[in-house]
Amino acid sequence: MTTAQHKIGSGFGATTTAAEVVAGIDLTGKLAVVTGGYSGIGLETTRALTGAGAHVVVPARRRETAEQALAGLANVEVDELDLGDLESVRAFAERFLASGRRIDLLITNAGVMACPETRVGPGWEAQFATNHLGHFALVNRLWPVVADGARVVVLSSRGHHNSPMRWDDVQFEHGYDKWAAYGQAKTANVLFAVRLDELGASRGVRAFALHPGGIMTPLQRHLPKAEMIERGWIDEAGNFLMQFKTPEQGAATTVWAATSPQLDGLGGLYLEDCDVAELSPEDAEGMSASGVRRYAVDREQAERLWTLSARLTGVDAW
Ligand SMILES: NC(=O)c1ccc[n+]([C@@H]2O[C@H](COP(=O)([O-])OP(=O)(O)OC[C@H]3O[C@@H](n4cnc5c(N)ncnc54)[C@H](OP(=O)(O)O)[C@@H]3O)[C@@H](O)[C@H]2O)c1
Repeated sequence: MTTAQHKIGSGFGATTTAAEVVAGIDLTGKLAVVTGGYSGIGLETTRALTGAGAHVVVPARRRETAEQALAGLANVEVDELDLGDLESVRAFAERFLASGRRIDLLITNAGVMACPETRVGPGWEAQFATNHLGHFALVNRLWPVVADGARVVVLSSRGHHNSPMRWDDVQFEHGYDKWAAYGQAKTANVLFAVRLDELGASRGVRAFALHPGGIMTPLQRHLPKAEMIERGWIDEAGNFLMQFKTPEQGAATTVWAATSPQLDGLGGLYLEDCDVAELSPEDAEGMSASGVRRYAVDREQAERLWTLSARLTGVDAW
């Protein structure tokens, strides 16, 4: 069984900016946590949320870099977090819990894409571990202070079209493929939102996953120039050949998911271009189609991933 993936006609679209989404929305008194909220899409998310009056906590792997990037923004606080290190996740969560505050908007934005084979923790594949398991542990540890009625927003990607969950080799122990690993991690992000929404709904906590669009950010750091040329993203001179979103446009769907009253009563959905996405055609090849793959919003797979993630991380708020 899958979720109700149908456009709702938000009136926004691919070129909408985060500032346009949040115009007229007052977030005064609200507290947001945005992982990686100091680079690329995350930075623009932090800017839009603070601009609307929210206080934003930005857990960062590189604290000084984060402080420099966020200098000049009011109502932002930087803390330390390495999602590839479960001890770091635990320590951040404990510091936050000790502060006695509640979270209204929890945005799991940080991520790594198509890196060379890297192992973290007990030998876990780094994209699955960072993008999914670290955030799984984080949200579960923070769960006691996630406010009733809060929203959790999980950054996935159209890259999820590259791979379903590889249940027989989740950690790529039998051959590594950087795009399949990103694809699996981004599928895991969607499945996590689907299951979290089911578990949180009794407290009015709703979860969404999303594709932000294609945006040139430091996320592309692991891609050689030759590969970007081969993919048709840039030419030899580095000029963009594709229609990329600006980071301000790239943050719009995140901010819409986190704040829009248009999503009241909904949850467990995959969004793109500031709307609910349709299911993509079964016969679509690779990342050729928009929308969400059926395997990424399958409730049984979502439950199975939750069980696996809880076992691997040793954390489960339920
Ligand atoms: N840009 C796109 O076209 C695109 C498309 C689809 C989906 N997305 C998704 O959007 C999200 C944001 O991407 P972006 O383009 O804004 O990339 P970005 O500028 O590279 O930002 C990613 C952030 O994640 C942080 N991060 C990486 N590994 C971490 C770790 N182990 N612990 C803690 N933080 C870590 C990075 O910190 P450091 O700077 O310290 O490494 C950075 O702040 C990602 O989840 C990505 O998969 C992006």
